[in-house]
Amino acid sequence: MPKHIPKRALSNDKDVVVAILKELCRRHTQGDKNTAKWRKDMISNNDEKSDISQNKLLRGLKENEIFEVCALGKNKFYNTGDTLFKEGDSDQTVYLILHGAIKLMQTLNGKEKDIAVLQKGDGLGDTAFIKDSKRIVTAVALKSSHIMAIDKLSKDMLSSEIQLRMYNNFNQMASERIGGHIHRDTKLIDQIQYLGTRIRKLIHTNSEEYKNSELIRDILENIQSLPVYSSNLLLLLQSDRASASEVVEQAKLDPSLVGVILKTINSAYYGLRCKISDVQHAITYLGFNQVYQLVVDHGVKSTMPDTPEFQELQCHSNVVSFFSFELARLCNKNTPLMHGTIGLLHDIGKSVILLLKKQHKKLAILIDLLDHARIGSLLLEKWNVPATVYKSVEYQCFPEFFPPSEVPEEFREYAAVLYISHICYEYAKGNEKKELPVAFLDEYVTYLNFPEKSFMPLFKNHIMPSVYKKMNACPENVRKFLMESKTKILEAESALDKNVDIGGKFF
Ligand SMILES: [Fe+2]
Repeated sequence: MPKHIPKRALSNDKDVVVAILKELCRRHTQGDKNTAKWRKDMISNNDEKSDISQNKLLRGLKENEIFEVCALGKNKFYNTGDTLFKEGDSDQTVYLILHGAIKLMQTLNGKEKDIAVLQKGDGLGDTAFIKDSKRIVTAVALKSSHIMAIDKLSKDMLSSEIQLRMYNNFNQMASERIGGHIHRDTKLIDQIQYLGTRIRKLIHTNSEEYKNSELIRDILENIQSLPVYSSNLLLLLQSDRASASEVVEQAKLDPSLVGVILKTINSAYYGLRCKISDVQHAITYLGFNQVYQLVVDHGVKSTMPDTPEFQELQCHSNVVSFFSFELARLCNKNTPLMHGTIGLLHDIGKSVILLLKKQHKKLAILIDLLDHARIGSLLLEKWNVPATVYKSVEYQCFPEFFPPSEVPEEFREYAAVLYISHICYEYAKGNEKKELPVAFLDEYVTYLNFPEKSFMPLFKNHIMPSVYKKMNACPENVRKFLMESKTKILEAESALDKNVDIGGKFF
């Protein structure tokens, strides 16, 4: 006990602990280089005075026990941004906040995130009571802070009763924090459900309005139909029982399609020594899957103008289709062809909107408000495309806002694959994950039973290696996109996780 504090001062005076603390503060802080700046800040902030007896970590301790803690503790002063300890540190110091505020941060998915702010009266450092434990958070001063630090040696000198009481107080504080988190979680769930209900109502209301709208009907009437030969050939190619000769006979009905097939097979891309002029030979060489993609691609192109904007949209659809096909195979779905088709057609509504804007330039702002998914779905229904395709196109935006359970079961798998294909496309294009609609991404990855439970390892270890391996068997615009994406993916990856070398795996 400091000699110049008389024993009588320790009688029933309630301020005795504060008086002792003040003296201890004065002694402990002498020579601390941070003290002057801290005191200056405290004066300018006009902060209230310390009262250690009110600290939650000392609840239930008697005055003489608090004095024991104060005698062993060391006063420390932190300026804004100073670090108390870092995640992974193994020191076992207990901290009592007498003034100021301390921010706790934790590394989640490679990034440091704020998880809590502790204020005057709080304590931190519960790992000090757990043998061989390491800090699971980083603690940084959010503003000028006055802390009492009790290091391991001092803590071990405290009586076992005091240590037990402090340990119990840590548990009590943890329970209070968990209670607060549960309360906030419950509130968040309520808010999400409310927003979900509002969005769903908005989508369904729009859906009915679109179907009954004379304006939308007029718009769709003015869009050229898919060539009838293409429609019949698509149905045939989707049938499990279609023979090569039937496909060839149907394809021959559309001379321009035959031209596309022969042009494709004889392009430099396939590198054949001898030109193929027989369409049957070409279809057999390409395989049904490739022919199917060519027919859809050819059919859609014939309905839209051949301008750079449409070509860009078409390239996007080709790439998404390629990803969809590969994703469906990766998660062992029986219908990769159907997934590929949905990918090819999913943005047909955007093409319609582009066309309308070209035709009615003054109304461009209003036309942009149209729901492309709904327009595309209605157009595909009009073209007699299978219901699975046009309904999946209609539900394509659902995964952005809802978990898998909220998407109708019959289209869930298709909407899920299309959604993840889109994320793959964006990521391959160099857009960072934080800018993408990824609220329920891992839920969809889990729903589709992929070999990984979250997107990034799935993308790095499975999707991209598989896609790059088959790059030579895809349309030229897709190949070009994937080649350009190589650098962007590596850049995005190194920004996200500098320790991961993905180059060797992809290429
Ligand atoms: Fe798209």
